[in-house]
Amino acid sequence: MQFQTILEPFRVRSVEPIRHTTREERAHALAHAHYNVFQLDARDVLIDLLTDSGTGAMSAAQWGAMMQSDESYAGARSFHRFRDVVAAITGLQHVLPTHQGRAAERILFSTAARAGDIVPNNTHFDTTRANIEDRGATALDLPCAESRDPQALHPFKGNIDLVALERVLAEHPGRVPLVMITVTNNSGGGQPVAMANIREARTICQRHGVPLFLDACRFAENAWFIKQREPGYADRTPREIAQEMFSYCDGATMSAKKDGLANIGGFLAINDDDLAQRCRNNLILTEGFVTYGGLAGYDLEAIATGLTEVLDEEYLRYRVRSIAYLAERLQAADVPLLLPPGGHALYLDARRLLPHIPWNEYPACALGAVLYVEGGIRAVEIGSLMFGHHPDGTEHPAPHELLRLAFPRRVYTQSHVDYVAEVLAYVRTRAASIRGLKIIEQPSALRHFSAKLAPVHGAILAP
Ligand code: F0G
Repeated sequence: MQFQTILEPFRVRSVEPIRHTTREERAHALAHAHYNVFQLDARDVLIDLLTDSGTGAMSAAQWGAMMQSDESYAGARSFHRFRDVVAAITGLQHVLPTHQGRAAERILFSTAARAGDIVPNNTHFDTTRANIEDRGATALDLPCAESRDPQALHPFKGNIDLVALERVLAEHPGRVPLVMITVTNNSGGGQPVAMANIREARTICQRHGVPLFLDACRFAENAWFIKQREPGYADRTPREIAQEMFSYCDGATMSAKKDGLANIGGFLAINDDDLAQRCRNNLILTEGFVTYGGLAGYDLEAIATGLTEVLDEEYLRYRVRSIAYLAERLQAADVPLLLPPGGHALYLDARRLLPHIPWNEYPACALGAVLYVEGGIRAVEIGSLMFGHHPDGTEHPAPHELLRLAFPRRVYTQSHVDYVAEVLAYVRTRAASIRGLKIIEQPSALRHFSAKLAPVHGAILAP
């Protein structure tokens, strides 16, 4: 008998209380936070889906390994264990620990990219883009055509556009220091990249003599999608699939705060001896010695154990299935979504849910505000507040108005997911009364973190 219940593949032996608040208290907290959920106190949030980064729960095995860490400044046993685990999965020669993903990006691009260079990617994450642009180089997004339609049910909407990649490499010889592929494609809806796509990108890069790097933050979730969806992989383990993904690459950047199952950490892994040495010299300037890279020995232990646990099939089945389940419940309640559901998050399509709110009244922010007030749930806008402001001072609509519900790993149970579905089904019934927001104060860059907003019509819901 195949039972259908989504069973968390763990039992809980340490708990953290979450705090109920009243609707009135939340309305007050949100007004105090100037309608920007980044400004809320976490203690006023019941279910926190702001990010899956560094917010996961560690296992007893991780805590146990941390207690036995080696905190030696140089050549610690914990570094050797960390390096061996990373090398066994990635097959890459040189492993440089970093304090998180963006530190690996900074070291890589400040070493390898120059002004005028171009770095293609399926879709750059904000920090990757910022680190490339900081060099005076161009961060070029080349998502596949299927990714443009939020409703298209293509299995690998995270793919890079291979024809466009070939063209960029042919048109700009000597100007592309490396090509990146982000797995899964976070800014593109948490969508996976097919093995065939990575393999073909590799062939194209080799033809042009350009190295291929993975932004590997969510490599295990990507491996799981390949196992489920790509012909020929059903009988392979997630570890074998991950190893094949990395075998096509010359290097990788990683935030261990995602599929490292750790609260902090990351790494830069590289095959080329000369580039690795130059990156080590660069790392030492800001991160620390090359065998700890800004991390404690116990962080290296937590990551080494986490990278092993994350490839467990039962864990990955539960992880991806519970997000797909929420998508099914929301579709049944007629809540518009970006489809198919991603590996770490669901993206609500606020443009379709709230067609009466124009882009410059930030429909996904308004939806996020109402979701918080009604149910104490925090999510993040990926729309015109985040992307609408351009360096020349002009405002343009973002490609999509999305509200991302990102799930911390191993933190929430099935009843928490049911609660989120119930609240969203209720919010759906109030959609016509949701009102837009306006900016009353904003910083010059990365405004979504700290902008102050206010309801355009005096309140976020019509009476
Ligand atoms: N690359 C991707 C694809 C990411 O999603 C992130 C972080 C990073 C790089 C940077 O890693 O935070 O360790 O420096 N994403 C988080 C998020 C912040 O909420 O999506 P970091």
